[in-house]
Amino acid sequence: MKPTIFITRKLPDELVAPLKEKFTVRMWDSEEVAVTKAVLREEIAQVDALWTMLSDTIDRDMLESAANLKVISNLAVGFNNIDIEAAKEKGIIVTNTPDVLTETTADLAFGLLLATARRFNSAEKDLRQGGWLSWTPMGFTGMDIHGTTLGIIGMGRIGEAVARRAKGFNMHVLYHNRNRKLETEEKYDVEYVELDDLLKQADHVVILVPFTEETKEMIGERELSLMKKTATLISVSRGGIVDEVALYDALKNETIFAAGLDVFETEPIPLRHPLLTLPNITAVPHIGSASVETRRAMMKMNVEAITDVLEGREPKDQVNSLASAR
Ligand code: GLV
Ligand code: GLV
Repeated sequence: MKPTIFITRKLPDELVAPLKEKFTVRMWDSEEVAVTKAVLREEIAQVDALWTMLSDTIDRDMLESAANLKVISNLAVGFNNIDIEAAKEKGIIVTNTPDVLTETTADLAFGLLLATARRFNSAEKDLRQGGWLSWTPMGFTGMDIHGTTLGIIGMGRIGEAVARRAKGFNMHVLYHNRNRKLETEEKYDVEYVELDDLLKQADHVVILVPFTEETKEMIGERELSLMKKTATLISVSRGGIVDEVALYDALKNETIFAAGLDVFETEPIPLRHPLLTLPNITAVPHIGSASVETRRAMMKMNVEAITDVLEGREPKDQVNSLASAR
């Protein structure tokens, strides 16, 4: 009998085709609506491989029903939606899609910084609503990006790619990371500082750390209060790292200038969320890696990883290395 794969979202046929040649493939039939928990649980109990989206929660409880599951391949670089320890205990390999999305995500992070500091969204919204009555000397004025100080929290691959962009804008780049990255400091001329110092000195702060127990709500009321009144905060890795209640207060009271958000505590962010009532946020729907080329490249990595595991080879980009457990 051929191994069976379940794909939790409707994906382009031509990308799924190589799997169909070798395996039995079942796929959730909607692109917009996520798979239900009940269907996911039923599939997990049967299949050999699972191709997941970052919006699927694969926790210990969900993994309990897995009987034949050998691999979970996540269409994302982040994998906080999967309990990788529980998977490891059950001998299930988990893979992600790093590297191919680094530059695309850095483009989004830097673009969101530009849009937020220069107020693209509120200016465009005003234009469309007929609010552009004359060229206005101080109308829609924002904050400069070139020549200012950028603070990057989380200096991984995407952080480095953002730092390179910042250098093109003649920015001074500070970073904070769990471990100092001496090679990165030398290569990209970036300066390590403690988190509080970064928050105090940066004109713009970009958050790129993964979501973990350590980074959960690492930016709260106290941290926001350290930032400059003219500063912007850009959040592009995962929701839940910034305390949204504290962020709302800081933006509402204008103790910081603006925030650009690609990720939220709850996704999709509810339309009635207080943050969406504020003029000084720029909000986009988790589109960091969303270029045609990059999403296709990510999907090809998932196909390769699933094929490798089902055919008995070691896959690339394993995030819960089973080799060390064996
Ligand atoms: C996107 O957020 C990803 O983790 O790939
Ligand atoms: C702006 O368009 C200017 O010419 O100053």
